[in-house]
Amino acid sequence: MKVTVVGAGNVGATCAQIVAQKNIVQEVVLLDIKEGISEGKSLDLWQAAPINYYDSSLVGSTNDYSKTAESDVVVITSGVPRKPGMSRDDLISINAGIVKNVTENVVKHSPKAKIIIVSNPLDVMTYAAFVTAKKPKNEVMGMAGILDTARYRAFLAEALDVSPRDIQALLMGGHGDTMVPLPRYTTVAGIPVTELIDEEKLNAIVERTKKGGGELVNLMGTSAWYAPGSAAAQMVEAIVMDQKRIFPCCVKLDGEYGLHDMFVGAPVKLGKNGVEQIIEVKLNEKEKQLLQNSANAVHKVMEIFNEMNIL
Ligand SMILES: NC(=O)c1ccc[n+]([C@@H]2O[C@H](COP(=O)([O-])OP(=O)(O)OC[C@H]3O[C@@H](n4cnc5c(N)ncnc54)[C@H](O)[C@@H]3O)[C@@H](O)[C@H]2O)c1
Repeated sequence: MKVTVVGAGNVGATCAQIVAQKNIVQEVVLLDIKEGISEGKSLDLWQAAPINYYDSSLVGSTNDYSKTAESDVVVITSGVPRKPGMSRDDLISINAGIVKNVTENVVKHSPKAKIIIVSNPLDVMTYAAFVTAKKPKNEVMGMAGILDTARYRAFLAEALDVSPRDIQALLMGGHGDTMVPLPRYTTVAGIPVTELIDEEKLNAIVERTKKGGGELVNLMGTSAWYAPGSAAAQMVEAIVMDQKRIFPCCVKLDGEYGLHDMFVGAPVKLGKNGVEQIIEVKLNEKEKQLLQNSANAVHKVMEIFNEMNIL
């Protein structure tokens, strides 16, 4: 198995590191447009192998896609991250062209690869990659839900003073401030979370989750990378190990949840074929409305993207 990560910046390098440490693939290729950066980071990661006990080989490439040939999975993180005061949607004018160009190169050299998009604005960039790649919809997906759910789970674990491992949760919608954490589908070792925390505290956690990315941008001056890189690596693992894991991912909906011809976050089964199933859970009226609001927000960015005539 071979995995390529395009973009050797904060998220890409973290993803490559975690994939290597999982020791689940023969080769991890890091590719970046900046001269030398991916070669340097790959060498550094290879020198960590004797310490961290992995044998996946690491290859760096300055924009030479021949080195990525026949990858099984490709993670696309290339593009600019946000700065304080920016929304993810503000990145569209720069990142749309990058994602299109990178996807073309990826597909040329790895026609069978499953593609995971990380670049923002996530839902629209995943759509752009899907249209550019001309691949079946199960082979192109975006990473956002695992990260956003992890933030929600981490905040809950802290508030309840329990292990984050015991918190299971579901979150849907676009990767923006309209995302929809679902307390009705949140449990602590099987116990509904609503039995363990009062409504006011839970609502505060839901609100903090929605702005979780922005909280980090304000602290660091750029967006997060440890949790995003880990989340992308978890999707890689589910695919290369054919784990059939259930995760919220950004996928193409064609009627599911009443949404049509758009990429947005929903629970799916991930295995060797990529997105093997989209799971439709029952939503109540309020949840449906929140999901629709989130889809409407993604639609607005889609309109801006369509006006750019990039595809
Ligand atoms: N989906 C999510 O949940 C999520 C989370 C965090 C960050 N992000 C997004 O991921 C992207 C990367 O974030 P980061 O913090 O790693 O940024 P970064 O600036 O640290 O790294 C981006 C890298 O992409 C490279 N790059 C730019 N154009 C390229 C091209 N044409 N080909 C190859 N490489 C190219 C840059 O040289 C840079 O090294 C951003 O768009 C950010 O908003 C998404």
